[in-house]
Amino acid sequence: MSPETAKKRMAELSAELKEHSYKYYVLSMPTISDFEFDKMLEELVALETQFPEFIDPDSPTQNVGGFITKEFPTIRHRWPMLSLGNTYNEQELLDFDQRIKKAIGDNFEYVCELKFDGLSMSLTYEKGHLLRAVTRGDGSEGEEVTTNVKTIRSIPKRLHEGNYPDDFEIRGEVFMHLKAFDKLNEERIENGEPPYANPRNFASGTIKLQDSGEVAKRPLDSFIYFLYTERRIFPTHWDSLQAVKSWGFPVNDESRLCNNIEEVMQFISEWEDKRYHLSYDIDGIVIKVNSYAQQEELGYTAKSPRWAIAYKYKAQQVETELLSVSYQVGRTGAVTPVANLKPIFLAGTTVKRATLHNANEIIRLDLHEGDWVYVEKGGEIIPKIISVNMQRRQPGAKPIQYITNCPVCGTPLERKEGEAAFYCPNDEGCAPQIVGKMQHFTGRKVMDIDGMGDETIDTLYERGFIRHISDIYHLHERADDLKKMERFGEKSINNMLDGIEKSKQMPFERVLFGLGIRYVGATVAKKLAMYFQTIDNLMNASFDELNAVEEIGERIAKSVMEYFEDPQHRQEIEKLKAAGLQFAAEVKEVVLASEKLSGKSFIISGTFSRSRDELKDIIEQNGGKILGSISARLDYVVAGDNMGPAKLEKATKLNIPIISDEQLFAMLA
Ligand code: IVH
Repeated sequence: MSPETAKKRMAELSAELKEHSYKYYVLSMPTISDFEFDKMLEELVALETQFPEFIDPDSPTQNVGGFITKEFPTIRHRWPMLSLGNTYNEQELLDFDQRIKKAIGDNFEYVCELKFDGLSMSLTYEKGHLLRAVTRGDGSEGEEVTTNVKTIRSIPKRLHEGNYPDDFEIRGEVFMHLKAFDKLNEERIENGEPPYANPRNFASGTIKLQDSGEVAKRPLDSFIYFLYTERRIFPTHWDSLQAVKSWGFPVNDESRLCNNIEEVMQFISEWEDKRYHLSYDIDGIVIKVNSYAQQEELGYTAKSPRWAIAYKYKAQQVETELLSVSYQVGRTGAVTPVANLKPIFLAGTTVKRATLHNANEIIRLDLHEGDWVYVEKGGEIIPKIISVNMQRRQPGAKPIQYITNCPVCGTPLERKEGEAAFYCPNDEGCAPQIVGKMQHFTGRKVMDIDGMGDETIDTLYERGFIRHISDIYHLHERADDLKKMERFGEKSINNMLDGIEKSKQMPFERVLFGLGIRYVGATVAKKLAMYFQTIDNLMNASFDELNAVEEIGERIAKSVMEYFEDPQHRQEIEKLKAAGLQFAAEVKEVVLASEKLSGKSFIISGTFSRSRDELKDIIEQNGGKILGSISARLDYVVAGDNMGPAKLEKATKLNIPIISDEQLFAMLA
């Protein structure tokens, strides 16, 4: 493609993607599928890699993180971030209404909003650009998490043309959808990591991650519920919400203007049940006096406004009987206990099962056979057992004993020191592990093989077509047999075989992630692929070499070593190599501007006036090499502002010269 055409196409894609993000996240009215969106994004990424000179700083790809921030600077809030008083019943709400009436009379309106259960965020915009995102912190000071917040698609980075002030601050809630929470938490359990208790914790854990690339992978969303401007531009909160929505912010559509406390009560009772049909968690309703003039009249206490209050719903709990505990085996062999319960209606659905996470949870609950348990549905789809009703425990009831052998293949389970999960070590012979590994490999985030969904893999395994990942690459040899299977048309078989063929082009990091090495998620796989470049280097790496890679701790290093020590794994890799999969990181062809940095290795850390990618290109174009982490082999650290203290300490310890970008340019002069 000529540079001219590329430039034009990049601008087109960028504009279209921004428009679709707006339709999806702000208007909740997508006009294209997620798949189409991702394809467009992929095309843009490919063009940007080829023509970095045309990257628009506001490109949708630039919102998808990828920078490491070591510490979050503390920022003082211009307007303190207050909390809300809580009410739990009708009477307390009527008291609140009486206090308001006493102060301002009868002539006022309320705005009722859902109370989103996430973390509050303050966003500052200047001339339509998102300048800063700060957490609530202690209310007067918070942490600046702009880079991470920029990965949230629903938060506009640049506003559409509109009639907004040059300088304003906006507040809202950042949260995680329930489905994403359950899925990501399952992955954590599978990886032997402790699960998050609820989506709120997951969202706040995510926003404080150091690696914004990782943040971008965890889908967060937001709703805006407050506007601050230097001078008041709208007479009411309701008007502000409408305006803010028209400027491109995600404002929740369920908010309602109410004329009196009875209408507020009506809203509260409507949402008592309706809340369980939302895709995210709310823990109550926020009630605000609408007029700003009246808000001012009512004023504030030390902690919260007198013109607003939260009505909190009680978490719904029911008591039911524990029928049995069963055990599920995941792809990594982690065995998760599940409580089977006497079916009971709770918060809009019939509950039959509750997760028990791991053996420790059974001990924490002191669970016995036939116990009556309290079940709660809080911020997750799968309900939780909160506690046992000791009064109803049968005399002589036996404690639940965690199993000692795999429920599927019978192999004795193992537990590593310091870990919560038990594992079945029989990864070559235990069906759910074999199938799970193949499903992981072909999945969208890994090799993304079209036409090879989970059920197809199940069937192909049952019929004896595939047992190892490498068998997938021999399926074409058995196309005729495949076509004879019922439910599989010729078209879908061809589609699948095409998908398999295409997957051979997937980059090394995806293949590595796809192998399903314990603790090697997408991010770790990328780090390892970048650092070691080829599978052979990785396979031959010592424990210390692995441990020296940034963010690769002992646990991961050990797991990688163990994986490659297994001759069957090595054999499988040989087969995949023979099938033509990528086992080396792509080498970008670089036209050398000079060889002034030849033989020298660099790490770029911190922020600079130009982007780090630009610096990286300059180094590579002059013969230098970029390393993935600080080690004794490194020649220079190019340090900008806010370089992380851990890196600084490591570089100093190893006596590695720390230079500025200007010193780097001096080397080229
Ligand atoms: S207004 C001064 N509106 O609830 C008023 N807060 O307990 C500031 N929250 O820190 C808050 N949904 O994190 C407001 N629709 C909503 C909300 C909401 C959730 C959170 C927010 C705040 C906390 C107060």
